[in-house]
Amino acid sequence: MDITVRRAEPGDFEAVWRNFSDESAYSGTLQLPHPSRETWRKRLAEPADGHYLFVACAGDEVVGNSGLHPASRSPRRSHAMALGLAVPSPWQGRGVGTALLAAVTGFADGWLNVFRLELTVFADNERAIALYRKFGFETEGTHRAYALRDGRYVDTLAMARLRPKSP
Ligand SMILES: CC(C)(COP(=O)(O)OP(=O)(O)OC[C@H]1O[C@@H](n2cnc3c(N)ncnc32)[C@H](O)[C@@H]1OP(=O)(O)O)[C@@H](O)C(=O)NCCC(=O)NCCS
Repeated sequence: MDITVRRAEPGDFEAVWRNFSDESAYSGTLQLPHPSRETWRKRLAEPADGHYLFVACAGDEVVGNSGLHPASRSPRRSHAMALGLAVPSPWQGRGVGTALLAAVTGFADGWLNVFRLELTVFADNERAIALYRKFGFETEGTHRAYALRDGRYVDTLAMARLRPKSP
């Protein structure tokens, strides 16, 4: 099925909230179980300045989401943005992450002044790491015991991609 990507709209909050209710989606990210529907409603109704949220759709169904966020408030890091990605389990391994990452890297490269895209990924998340490598992200190091996941501290890889071509 064709996957299309567009900017998230306020009316998408329920779909995004449902995506993050999926165990593998919150476990693979830094979200918590039992996400708040109201928090997602507010976040999509009034996205903070400089934050860009995207959804992937199969027909009318929202099947994944991604966010591009300022990496820091420091003006000296204004060339860097951080990336997040979540696809609920029924849609994983079907090209949704690839479509989202193609759209988000294209947006960052072509339309924003982003030189460096960065992210953290759990060191055992082989699918996500393979996806990021496919888009030119390289591992820069390991954060030890970076986050708690279901009662255990888990390492993450710091990955980043510098814009392949100068404007
Ligand atoms: C990680 C995630 C975003 C990937 O998105 P996806 O839609 O499942 O990925 P895609 O179907 O686009 O496939 C990505 C690539 O990984 C490869 N891949 C799939 N499963 C893999 C595995 N177990 N090990 C290694 N590579 C794998 C695929 O072959 C594909 O590469 P290809 O196109 O060259 O064949 C998605 O699975 C997800 O949201 N998981 C839960 C939350 C999460 O982990 N988010 C990432 C936070 S950093």
